[in-house]
Amino acid sequence: MSTTAPHAKGWSTLSVALHWMIVVLIVVQLIDHEWMVDLWRKTRRAAPIDTTTVTLGWVHIIAGSLILAAALVRLWDRYSHGRPPYPVDEPSWASWLARITHVLIYAILILMPIAGLIAWFGMIGEAGEIHEFLWTPLLVLIGLHVAGALAQQFWFKTGVLKRIFVPGTL
Ligand code: HEM
Ligand code: HEM
Repeated sequence: MSTTAPHAKGWSTLSVALHWMIVVLIVVQLIDHEWMVDLWRKTRRAAPIDTTTVTLGWVHIIAGSLILAAALVRLWDRYSHGRPPYPVDEPSWASWLARITHVLIYAILILMPIAGLIAWFGMIGEAGEIHEFLWTPLLVLIGLHVAGALAQQFWFKTGVLKRIFVPGTL
């Protein structure tokens, strides 16, 4: 993924905050998705729904919409202020794997909530299936991403991990 200002001095405060906000919201989705599935199925069958299912279903909808907004704002921030350079002391295959992983994560963070919103507000089953299908690839990519971050820290010893915690760190 190319950037307009590739040598930005570290991640911006906004970018760091949004990264961790997305992480927390994904954990929320991990916990509440069963209630959303229940709410979805019962709503489509016009079956009775308990308050917990309605509440946690709506937590899913709101958290998912916030993930969409956070991913879009983070992308805007990344293009307008640039991202820090990929470390020079890691092999190029690792940088490319990181780039591809990041592009795919952004793509799913945008496509998945859009499919969910189309499914819910349009009551369109096919959009629900696309939404459901994207979950496993997202989990695999997150696993790869976290493994990559840990490899940066402990294997390539690049110090990249610090910059996702402390804004302005190169
Ligand atoms: C990135 C954000 C989101 C993530 C990670 C996420 C995750 C999930 C997961 C894991 C499931 C369960 C899939 C299954 O096992 O059947 C699910 C179901 C569902 N979600 Fe989301 N969700 C997100 C955003 C949204 C949004 C914004 C909506 C809007 C209403 C939504 C609506 C739904 C619906 C309708 C289902 C049931 C679909 C079905 O069972 O076919 N989701 N979601
Ligand atoms: C839900 C889980 C996560 C998601 C969706 C996610 C997503 C992302 C995305 C989209 C980027 C931006 C890449 C770019 O714009 O070029 C990023 C950067 C980064 N993430 Fe995560 N992340 C997650 C969890 C984590 C965790 C748990 C860690 C730490 C162990 C981590 C460490 C990093 C680091 C170090 C960077 C900066 C990479 C660099 O500066 O080159 N991420 N993450």
